Amino acid sequence: MYQDVLKAIAERCSIRSYKSEPVSRELLDQLLAAAVQAPSARNSQPWHFSVVQDEKLLTIINQEVAAELGRFDDIFYQAPLVIFLSADPQGGYSRIDCGIAVENIALAAQALGLGSVILGMPSHAFKGEKADWLRQRLRFPRGYDFMIAIAIGWPAAGKDPHPVDPGKIDLIEPLGSDD
Ligand SMILES: Cc1cc2nc3c(=O)[nH]c(=O)nc-3n(C[C@H](O)[C@H](O)[C@H](O)COP(=O)(O)O)c2cc1C
Repeated sequence: MYQDVLKAIAERCSIRSYKSEPVSRELLDQLLAAAVQAPSARNSQPWHFSVVQDEKLLTIINQEVAAELGRFDDIFYQAPLVIFLSADPQGGYSRIDCGIAVENIALAAQALGLGSVILGMPSHAFKGEKADWLRQRLRFPRGYDFMIAIAIGWPAAGKDPHPVDPGKIDLIEPLGSDD
């Protein structure tokens, strides 16, 4: 069981190509259970999850991002499911809490055989002309704004995990008598 967690962490990678097959309600419920089980500062659970499986709405969001950036990229990679996390941007740890929750979803997706990619790009849609309409359409609670999103689906192509840099880690020695 615990080895399964390490396996999911080691094998998760960002998937940017999906089959059109939808994610079942049963799997979606497991992803959302993993999301709300995430830890948060003072257990404040400051997040809101907007589950979108509507291609039309995702296209509108994609178009809003394109309008802001002045170029069109397929930011959702045609994934059949995207979960948007919103929170109060003034909340002290709300961004960190949402980051942890989105990783819980990514690891749960991996454990279920699904692929996922965490998405910051949709943030641009919440600065443009339709920003208020979008916040309402995605039922962000009052005062909440976009934090992060995650696209999920059945992978159409695999990918190797990214190379790691051991130089990012220092093992700090205990204080000696000279310190
Ligand atoms: C906060 C955050 C925002 C990201 N935003 C995007 C994004 O908008 N589009 C995208 O294709 N990937 C996005 N990614 C995925 C990263 O590019 C990816 O995690 C990184 O390249 C490492 O690759 P891996 O996930 O395959 O290990 C994001 C990841 C994080 C953590």
